[in-house]
Amino acid sequence: MEHERSRTRAWVLHPDIKSDSARRDPIPALEEAVSLARALPDLDVVGSTIVRVDRAKAGFLFGSGKIEELKARFAADDVELVLIDGAVTPVQQRNLEKQWKVKILDRTGLILEIFSDRARTREGVLQVEMAALSYQRTRLVRAWTHLERQRGGLGFVGGPGETQIEADRRAIDDQLVRLRRQLDKVVKTRELHRKARAKVPYPIVALVGYTNAGKSTLFNRLTGADVMAKDMLFATLDPTMRRVELPDGPEVILSDTVGFISDLPTQLVAAFRATLEEVLAADLIVHVRDISHADTVSQAEDVEAILTSLGVDESRPRIELWNKIDLLPEEEREAAVARAAREEGVFAISALDGTGLPELLDAIGHLLQGVRREEELHLGFQDGRKRAWLFQQDVVQEEKQDEAGFHLSVIWTDRQKAQFNSLT
Ligand code: GTP
Repeated sequence: MEHERSRTRAWVLHPDIKSDSARRDPIPALEEAVSLARALPDLDVVGSTIVRVDRAKAGFLFGSGKIEELKARFAADDVELVLIDGAVTPVQQRNLEKQWKVKILDRTGLILEIFSDRARTREGVLQVEMAALSYQRTRLVRAWTHLERQRGGLGFVGGPGETQIEADRRAIDDQLVRLRRQLDKVVKTRELHRKARAKVPYPIVALVGYTNAGKSTLFNRLTGADVMAKDMLFATLDPTMRRVELPDGPEVILSDTVGFISDLPTQLVAAFRATLEEVLAADLIVHVRDISHADTVSQAEDVEAILTSLGVDESRPRIELWNKIDLLPEEEREAAVARAAREEGVFAISALDGTGLPELLDAIGHLLQGVRREEELHLGFQDGRKRAWLFQQDVVQEEKQDEAGFHLSVIWTDRQKAQFNSLT
């Protein structure tokens, strides 16, 4: 079939480097790299290869025979972009690009692209741009060192004798300053959004998980497509947050988040934090795992480590989902279902066929009841605004009034309590 011209034909390489101490199982690693590449809407992944290497070659990463073989392959398939699932030095990148006549993107570059495609908040977008620029800046420095050329002596741009590299670096630095300024503005606006969000009188449930675990599938299945279409209260919410009615009546906000990934480039941790701000405010965290994946255990560890580094501690209520049980062979599936049933807060489900979802919704309802607590509050007559807020949040169970003011009995979540305490 004729491919569309606007799409880029890409090939994914996973270098399986024997001397690498952090070597991963190459088959799932290649699969992950391919699905990362597929996450970019403009790419057509036309092929993928594991390239075994004893030790990375300084100039070209791969050996010359392999390079020739791949060159022929890329030419035959009209490949325009090669994604190398690992670190590629600027020198290796330039050499391989020349040899193969393709563009090359390494793992950090690819993850940066995906993040810029997926960043949902304005802050996320800016953070990703900053991360990309910082990444470019370091590569620029190294790539140019040995061919520093003097800029002509006209002096319109930069001082006399300024090298190209310095000029490029300065342009990047200027841009970074501009982005930083924009970011500061966005952070202020976000505070306003937070306040709007604080009005949402429902607990927030955040779905987290390794990339491809099935979060979006679950999210769509639980929310349906047009749940909040006409609901003005949510008009300002991020589109990835939806209201869900639990079986016994209470409603929650379910939020879908960007997928986690191992080897997250350091430049991206800040960007990650921005896109995950809903998680930090969540009343309940639902960790979705692909239990059918060969690396499911290490993926779960990566997710836990990232959550911890984001500042989500263990006291936060959690549910763990073993998703995709439909993909397990029958015996393993039965064992997984039995094991999940024995463990507290663990559910074996299939987001695809719906297995286990009613039980999950029940459990979410119960857990959120658990994080709600009853308290007695005393408000003076001057606290009318606070009292109105409590009624608006629908947390008041009973109210009495005497000469000292109002005595209220409320049932609320920790999040609501914190919001109440921040009211002035
Ligand atoms: P990221 O956006 O990368 O973080 O991925 P995600 O966690 O949102 O995963 P997504 O919902 O996009 O699902 C990834 C793939 O797994 C899709 O092809 C889904 O159809 C598939 N999938 C999700 N849940 C199930 C399941 O229960 N069973 C099976 N067989 N496939 C599933």
